[in-house]
Amino acid sequence: MRAVMDGLGVDARGHLTLGGVSVPGLAKEYGTPLYLLDEGSVRNACRAVNQGLSGYPAPYMAAFASKALCFKALYGVLSEEGMGADVVSGGELLTALRGGFNPGRIYFHGNNKTEEELRFALDSKVRQIVVDNAEELALLARAARDMGVTQEIAIRVKPGVDAHTHKHVTTGTLDSKFGVSRENGELADILKLVASHENLRVVGIHCHIGSQIFEREPYRQAAKVMVKLMDGVRRETGLPLRELNLGGGFAVNYMPDDRAESLRGMAAFCAESVLNAAKELDMPPPELVLEPGRSVTGPAGMTVYTVGSVKKIPGLNTYVAVDGGMTDNPRYALYGARYMPILPERPEEPSAGTVIIAGRCCETGDLVTKDAPLPEVQAGDLLAIQATGAFNYSMASHYNRVPNAPVVMVSNGAHRLVVRRETYEDVMRNDL
Ligand code: LLP
Repeated sequence: MRAVMDGLGVDARGHLTLGGVSVPGLAKEYGTPLYLLDEGSVRNACRAVNQGLSGYPAPYMAAFASKALCFKALYGVLSEEGMGADVVSGGELLTALRGGFNPGRIYFHGNNKTEEELRFALDSKVRQIVVDNAEELALLARAARDMGVTQEIAIRVKPGVDAHTHKHVTTGTLDSKFGVSRENGELADILKLVASHENLRVVGIHCHIGSQIFEREPYRQAAKVMVKLMDGVRRETGLPLRELNLGGGFAVNYMPDDRAESLRGMAAFCAESVLNAAKELDMPPPELVLEPGRSVTGPAGMTVYTVGSVKKIPGLNTYVAVDGGMTDNPRYALYGARYMPILPERPEEPSAGTVIIAGRCCETGDLVTKDAPLPEVQAGDLLAIQATGAFNYSMASHYNRVPNAPVVMVSNGAHRLVVRRETYEDVMRNDL
């Protein structure tokens, strides 16, 4: 079985299982397309990141990046596993709160938060708002004063580190829409401004260097740059910054030849890098926050489709069309992402060649993945795509008015619907 994700098995009938539940059984019960998420694998990932941080000698928190996957029931699992959460919009914040998540463990991000969102975050008493720019700082300060509340904030900084990942998910270089840079004086300016706002208390700095990062070294560099910045800020302004947030970005395996490091190992490496950087400058280790998203839920999820047609074009490609596509997973269209398919009814059968798995939208670029090794399939077969637990459901769209697929969580042989399938009526709900 060519498993690249977590939680898979094979049952007595030779069918694929996830979290101990038959995948064909789930497809029959809930229909396709269908997102599945293995709760046990999510819990293991949460534990791994916390174990990686556990030797760190100052307070730390692993905050799940909600943009990777966001629905109410997930927040119960995250709470139980001692995670924090990062949110980047009012919608993610509301989902976390409705999911019963403690706002005291929520970081509010975003490069262009609206006043309404800032007021919502203040009103919800989130732990921290990560301020992206001077205009936002002014807006936030005014809102906090009006509302008579004091808010802890951090400043998002561009550390100038290139994480060697896809250009659409690189965020730490100077030419980025996120955050302020030290080099052009923006950081110094914004810190001066903070000091004049008594309703805001700056407690830390934040960076996020990109996503799906396989290398360790960029994290060491980011840790060094950021710790040095904290030290510099303390010396120059006297501001007692206590917290360093290094963001997320740890890679996961999508293909058999991917070699992602363990989440525990990456978290431990980040902690060690920050500790060493602090030691070099003779300063106490700052409180440390990491924000893994993809690495927590990505390998725990799969999408199950039904094959509709198979087109073998002699001398060219074979197109296997499924009943979903870019509306449930836009990552091929956006990044040329590759994925490993697996057949839920015949998981052990060897590949008979490579195919293109195509979606159902009226768009040539609507592919799920290319060069996918697959046994012979025909209309009616189930086809699952592995490691879709991050940035799939959360990036779903209604293109072609396709209703969104449901999400089912599986856990130790049990399953529960956590997001129901949309209907045409749901899709048209706001049409007047
Ligand atoms: N923290 C911040 C501030 C971020 O911007 C992100 C991701 C994360 C944490 C989590 O990063 P992760 O551990 O999940 O890599 N849609 C793209 C990924 C965009 C990531 C944006 N920010 C994709 O599907 O590959």
